[in-house]
Parts: sequence; C-alpha cells; structure tokens
Amino acid sequence: MGNISGKIRYVGVNDLEKVIFEGMWPLPFGVSYNSYLVIDEKIALIDTAEAGFAAEYLENIRKEIGDRKIDYLVVNHMEPDHSSLMALIRENYPDIRIIGNAKTVPMIKGYYGLADNIQVVKEGDKICLGSSTLAFYMAPMVHWPETMVTYFEEEKTLFSGDAFGTFGGVADGITDSSARLLGSTDSAADSFSAFKDEMRRYYSNIVGKYGQTVQAAMKKLSGLEIARICSTHGPVWEKNIPEVMAYYDKLSRYEGEKGVCIVYASMYGNTAKAAKALAAELEKRGVEYAIHNLCTENVSYAYRDAFKYDTIAVGAPTYNNDIFPPAYNFMYGLSARLMKNRRFAAFGSYTWAGASVKLLNEMASKLGFELISDGISFPQAYSPEKCDMAALADRI
Ligand SMILES: Cc1cc2nc3c(=O)[nH]c(=O)nc-3n(C[C@H](O)[C@H](O)[C@H](O)COP(=O)(O)O)c2cc1C
Ligand SMILES: [Fe+2]
Ligand SMILES: [Fe+2]
Repeated sequence: MGNISGKIRYVGVNDLEKVIFEGMWPLPFGVSYNSYLVIDEKIALIDTAEAGFAAEYLENIRKEIGDRKIDYLVVNHMEPDHSSLMALIRENYPDIRIIGNAKTVPMIKGYYGLADNIQVVKEGDKICLGSSTLAFYMAPMVHWPETMVTYFEEEKTLFSGDAFGTFGGVADGITDSSARLLGSTDSAADSFSAFKDEMRRYYSNIVGKYGQTVQAAMKKLSGLEIARICSTHGPVWEKNIPEVMAYYDKLSRYEGEKGVCIVYASMYGNTAKAAKALAAELEKRGVEYAIHNLCTENVSYAYRDAFKYDTIAVGAPTYNNDIFPPAYNFMYGLSARLMKNRRFAAFGSYTWAGASVKLLNEMASKLGFELISDGISFPQAYSPEKCDMAALADRI
C-alpha cells in the first residue's frame, strides 16, 4: 500500500487485534493508524502509530527509504494511537528533529520523556524538504488542544490528523480509488459509501462534542486548495473529497437527515415492545429509521445514528423513580456531545409511579430539542391502547 504519490508514501498499519478503541468503542472492522513519509532531499515522517505495531511500522518505513535518515517527525496530534511510537523512532533515528507546536512540547515530555531537538512551529510556519514545502496550521480542539494540520503545498495535500478519519481497517489500497472497508461484505459504490457509517461512528463518538471547533478549522482550511486528504484513520481521500468535506460540514453543524433514531433500554421487554411497535409504524409510513437496544448493543451505534437522523425517540422504563440507567447514560452522552437541532419523543413502561418519560423530556428540553409529543408513559405491560405508537408516528 506504500505509494500515494512519487513523494508521499503510506507507512501505517491496520489494527485488527484491538477489540475496544479508547476503552469504549468496538471495532468490528478494525481501525488503521495512518502515518506517512514525505520524501525529498530531506525526509519527513508525519505522525507515528500505536505501540503494539513497532516492528511492522519500522519495517514499513525501511521498505520505503532503506537506510536513509529521517530528518523530521511532524506531530500533528499527541493522542497515543498516533504518538506512542515516537520514542522508538527517536531511538532508531537519533538525529530526527521533532516538529510540534507550543502545546505539543509538554505532552511529548510528559508521555515519552523527550525534550531535545524539538522545533516549535506556529500558525503558518513552513519547513522545506528540498522542492517540497510543509506548512503548519493550528486546529485546536479537533479533538485535543494541540491538534494541528500539515499542508504539503506543492502537492496540495493536507495531513489532517484525526479530522476526516474513520473507524475500519483499509483493504485493497489506501487511496479512495480502491480502498475498501476491511472485512465488509458490502459492495459499496465507492470508498466514501463504504466508510460512511464508520466515519460517522468515529465522528460522533470521539469528535462529536467539537462541532464548533471543527467548523472553525474547516473555515480556516477553506482558503487552501486541497487535492488530497491524508488523515490518521481510514482511506486517503482524493476522488471523494467533495463528499467527505460536505459530510464533515454537515456532522459538525449537527444537521440530521429526515428519519428517526430509536434507542431503547428495557428490563422485562415492555418498553422494547413499544420501541418495536414504533419502528413498525414508521416502516408502514416509509419513514427511515434505525433502532438500537442499549442493553445489548454498544452505545456507539446509537450515537452514530443520533448524528444521522433529525429525530430521536428514546424508550426507558422508570427505575428507582428515575430513568433506567442505560438510557440515562445515552442522554448524558448526547448532552456531553452538545447535541443540537433534534426533534424528540420519549416513551417507557412503569409499574407504580412513572417518572422516566418526564425526566427524559426534561433532559431533551435542556438540549433545546423540540418535543414532538408529551411522550408516552404506560403502566405495566405494553399494549397499543396504552401506548399509541401509530399516533406518535403520525407526528413524525
Ligand atoms: C430495580 C427496579 C426499580 C424500579 N423502580 C421503579 C419506580 O421507581 N417506579 C415505577 O413505577 N416502577 C419501577 N420499577 C418497575 C419497572 O419500571 C417496570 O417493571 C417496567 O414495566 C419495566 O419495563 P420493561 O419491561 O421495559 O423493563 C422498577 C423495577 C426495578 C427492577
Ligand atoms: Fe485523536
Ligand atoms: Fe486517532
């Protein structure tokens, strides 16, 4: 997968071993840690990879440059999935100069104990590799404070860090003229379609809170001509740049498409029946929806589809005069992501005194969601008479 252009080489790895990313997010298709070499009279390495991949990573580099030295290590992002081989690189290339910004420097020392031969760059600074120029632009809080991007001027290539990244390992070539989601049986039309769901799951789970700073970064980058985006996860975007840019813009503006994300949690199946009844009513009306059981599925899929659709319906029984915890956690997660611009409906079973629907409505109102109904709180067993999902579906 090495060659991206004459001067840009891919030296990243696919991780198919990690089950849960960042301690929370499952990886059904794995994830890639992308790292790149820019080769000219001087050589720059852009970011590194995860700690477990030392041997494969060094081998990837050697395959591209043999015994040549690397002059610069550009650190766009310090999260350990990209920085944790930094000390190994310094050991193997002792003269390498680390390029980072003022916020990167203490993190490099704190994580890896490295403090010497670090060049601090600020907005718009450049380094020259011969006939190749790398320019640095700060992108704070996309999604850490030290994040910056690197722009290879002559090739109009943006090394974007996690921005525009996706979950999912990459097969059949790294650029989007051929990249396929590893292990997927879907015959997607193009790489963007293949990775779109995993891009949204990555965005909503990890970057979700930072819509405003993503918007600021996109505005800043809009002045650059971009022919290629080399992110730290997923395919290198060339052909699909317009789709990827438009999608990131939409996600970071919290703009949902028409449809419903139904999420529910249920102990004895009554709230579950109500959720499924709502799905059936939407189906009848030809309304698009996704349905997620928070008790059996990782919540990352529910966030993924909450970012997709303009309406969220949450089902939760009452539990100790409160919201059943899996659904409470989901709502807390929406709030932590500063979720906006959604229509909302709640429903749930109780036995002696219902509280969950009222409390779900309160949480939704705090987020500025539009309540499309008062919600449906029903006693004990589900029945269409007690819990009229047809009427609710009509309001959607
Ligand atoms: C630990 C626990 C606490 C509960 N707390 C309440 C409560 O505070 N108020 C209430 O009306 N029902 C309470 N219930 C009853 C459930 O809300 C009721 O069984 C409901 O029908 C469960 O819906 P489900 O079938 O969707 O799980 C509680 C049940 C359990 C197991
Ligand atoms: Fe990150
Ligand atoms: Fe990352």
